[in-house]
Amino acid sequence: MASTIPTAPDGYIHAGPVSDFLPTPSPSSSASETNGDSGTDNANEQDTTSVCPAVSAPTTTTTTTETLKASCKTQGEEGQLIKVIEIPQPAGRYPPVKRVAVSFFHDKWYAFINICPHQGSALSRGTMTDIEDMGIVWGAGVTCSLHSWTFDASSGQSDSTRFVIDTHDVKEIDGHVFVSQKPKNAHIAGPRRDFGGREMN
Ligand code: FES
Repeated sequence: MASTIPTAPDGYIHAGPVSDFLPTPSPSSSASETNGDSGTDNANEQDTTSVCPAVSAPTTTTTTTETLKASCKTQGEEGQLIKVIEIPQPAGRYPPVKRVAVSFFHDKWYAFINICPHQGSALSRGTMTDIEDMGIVWGAGVTCSLHSWTFDASSGQSDSTRFVIDTHDVKEIDGHVFVSQKPKNAHIAGPRRDFGGREMN
């Protein structure tokens, strides 16, 4: 029996149950990732990438982040799955949906536009990484798989260019993940590019 989906907070969209963010059963799951050409309309069946070791799918209907953490730590690594959802945009706006990557990394949730502003590669193919200096971890970032630009997963700022990626707030409620429809970093200045809403590479 599926768990009941809690009511989404105002301004948030349901991204899926926490169990969707568990590592996929196959270690080669990244090879099965699809990009924006998939054409599916189901936001909860979008691309996923995982570098966490293979684990069995959960048997419980409700999975919390504690389960998620325990699952990956059992395997000796942190989870690093990035799932892509589609957020409907207000009527008349182009593109009509915004593709957003959602990740649970080092015990925190992150969400950011899935399109690298450099040449449009899918950031869901990238790698979550610690942002650190002098041995101190200041936050989390995502490194694009194509040319290794890295963006702060919270502020959206690039570490080497003026480009900024939209980042979104994430809430976990009763085993379900919700993502804010509007970016949380609109106040951060810098050029942004979405290549018409579709990943280019
Ligand atoms: S496309 Fe992302 S760094 Fe070049």
